[in-house]
Formats: sequence, C-alpha cells, structure tokens
Amino acid sequence: MTPSTPSPIPSTSASSLLLPAPLGGTLVHRVVRRGEDFELGELGQLPRLELSERGAADLEMIATGAYSPLTGFLGEQDYLSVIEHLRLADGTPWSIPITLPVARQDAGQYRGRVLLTHGDVPVGTLEVTEQFEARKAYEAREIYRTEDPQHPGVAALYAAGEVYLAGPVTLFEVPRGAFPQAHRTPAEVREAIEARGWRSTVAFQTRNPVHRAHEYLQKVALELVDGLLLHPLVGATKGDDVPAATRMQAYDVLLDKYYPRERTLLSVYPAAMRYAGPREAILHALSRRNYGATHFIVGRDHAGVGSYYGTYDAQEIFGAYTAQELGIQILKFEHTFYCQTCAQLVSPRTCPHDASHHLVLSGTKVREKLRAGEPLPPEFSRPEVAEVLRAAYQQASD
Ligand code: ADX
Repeated sequence: MTPSTPSPIPSTSASSLLLPAPLGGTLVHRVVRRGEDFELGELGQLPRLELSERGAADLEMIATGAYSPLTGFLGEQDYLSVIEHLRLADGTPWSIPITLPVARQDAGQYRGRVLLTHGDVPVGTLEVTEQFEARKAYEAREIYRTEDPQHPGVAALYAAGEVYLAGPVTLFEVPRGAFPQAHRTPAEVREAIEARGWRSTVAFQTRNPVHRAHEYLQKVALELVDGLLLHPLVGATKGDDVPAATRMQAYDVLLDKYYPRERTLLSVYPAAMRYAGPREAILHALSRRNYGATHFIVGRDHAGVGSYYGTYDAQEIFGAYTAQELGIQILKFEHTFYCQTCAQLVSPRTCPHDASHHLVLSGTKVREKLRAGEPLPPEFSRPEVAEVLRAAYQQASD
C-alpha cells in the first residue's frame, strides 16, 4: 500500500511560525512621518516639551514597539497598578512605570497635543490625556526598593518633575544615533532573526564590556538555542559605567575573533538604564520578547547597583508570572568566575574549590586597574577586549 502523501504545510509567514508574539499580541508602531498625521504648520503652534535623555529613549522604545503593548506614557491607573501589582491595569505583566515627568509650574501649559523635542529638534508628539501627581516615595520604595538618594534611579526620580503627563505618542524618525549599523527596531531585529533562520534566540542584556564570565553565559546558552542577540544597552548610564562607544568597539573585536558569525547578532538596545535590579530585569525580558527573542539571560544581580539588591532577587521576581504570561524563557545563571584549579569558567554549581582558587574582580577593581594602566588578567577578559578598554582609559586620562 502506498502511504498517503502528507498534506503540505499551509503557507504561513515565517514570523508567525518562529517568533514569539509581542506582548499584547501586536508590535506597536507609532513612527510617523513628520506632518503625516497633522499639518506641518501646526507644529509651530504646539506647546513644546523638551525631553530628557531618558524621556527621548522611552519615546523611541514605545514608538518602535520595544515596549509593546504601551502606546504612550502611562496614565494613573496603570502607574498605580504597575507599582502595586507588577501589571498594567488590564493584567498584562509590566514592572516599571514608563512616565513623563514635568515640573508642577509647567504642567498647566500641556493640554491636548504637545510637540516633544530633544535638544532643539522636534522628535515626536504626545496627546495629553491625563496629568497626575507622582507618588515619589512610594515609587522609590516599590520600584527601587530604597529611598536612598545615592541610588542613581532614585536620584533621577527625585530630580525629575512632580507631575506625570500621560497619553499616546508618535515618533517622527527612529534616531539611529551613534551606532547606525547596529541600531535596529524590534521589527528589524525580528527580520534579521528570520533571515538567519533561527528557531530560538537568546538575548543578552549588558551595560558592560563582555568579559569572560559574560561570554561563558552566552556560550552555554548557545549550546541550547540557535542564535545569540547581543543586545547592549546604549541609552543613558551612570557616569562611571564604560561609555557605549568603547563597549561597541570591544564587542566588535570580541565577536570577530571568538564568536560564530552566523549565530550572533549585535544590535543596540536604546533604553536608558534605571538600575532597578529585579524590576528592571522583568522590563528587560519583556522588551526582548518584543524584539523576537525566545530566551533571556538573567545572571547575578541583573541591572543592580551597589548592594541594594540580593544576588538572585532579579531571578526570583519572575515567579510573579506564569511562563505563558512571560512568553520568553528566562535562563538563570549563578555567579560565574574563573577557577585557577579547574582552569575554566565555573560557578558554585560546577566548582568544588573555595574562594582562594577563584579570580573574581569587581567592576570597581576593574576600573582601578584600567585607570592605573594595569593589564586585565586574560582569565577575566580577552586580551583584545582588555586592549580596547586600556586604550580608552589611557585616552580619557591624557
Ligand atoms: S546589567 O546591568 O546589564 O545587568 P551586566 O552588563 O554586568 O549588568 O550584566 C549583564 C548580564 O550578565 C546580567 O544578566 C547579569 O546578571 C549577568 N552577569 C554579569 N556578570 C556575571 C557573573 N560574573 N556571573 C553571572 N552572571 C553575570
């Protein structure tokens, strides 16, 4: 008997087959050509609101769909719900209120449509649907788990205005910034993943150069999934973090020499850093789902600063959601470092030796070494990466 011919697989676009659906089901797209949705002449008449670095980054994240399902800055109901329940008012997982603060004395002028500027340049619009009071102490306690003004996220919160403007936004043009070759919107990252035929993609958030520990996490993940989206954050960071331009140089030399080209995609993540640890880990993960990743790495003290968060708080917080709600698989890693005796990268899960066998360098220690012109040990950082950092530090101190 001849076996019956299997019926052909119905032709469906690759995206619906392979990539995770964005949060909320559709990738938000609010990039309009200037004047497309209203008369250009109208621009001059609108009240102007100058965005901070973070505000401009949030605008881009919303308008390009990186923060789907948000279509604008949060209203009060969503703001309170996110703080209290880790969810938007409709129940969708969300962890950090994306808000637009203005000074109380300026708030009155912002009604209806507002022209958003960055520097002097018009970058988009906001349709103000609501204004409400920030609950700063509450927000600081719940989002940052501290009211300490030394915390960079808390400092930014207190330095900003007391009134939040809410409503849908438009963006005139995706700002390709300093790294145009690596600046891709979520739709473009999705296309790039599809073009490579990856059925699973792990995203790696970082605000640092890729040291050996980072590389280890990425490569362990690459044993399990098809592709790596190296997705460094290039929005505003605190002053002593390594500048994005130096990091990008360091990523290039590293990828060139040590990563399989066809399984790696370097693309920038234009958000600003909030240093909100666990809460920010969720935002980072949800947003990477919007970029098309199926997996996301969360290691030790993800998005942390100082000692405000427990080493694995940013992993535990994901228990607030079901796997289905998250829609992206979290790959959790313990603290990783080099063991002289094992002669390899290890974690407490894989190494039996005590701390005297281990090479652990804090960020502060690394910066000290670089400032002093000392080399970084090859077990800590690839020589090519160390050289880029050394040169950048030398130049900065000349
Ligand atoms: S972050 O602010 O972007 O989280 P960083 O660039 O240092 O900072 O970390 C990027 C990712 O690697 C995070 O998920 C972090 O938890 C993880 N990570 C960094 N260093 C280590 C390490 N030594 N061991 C385990 N995970 C690490």
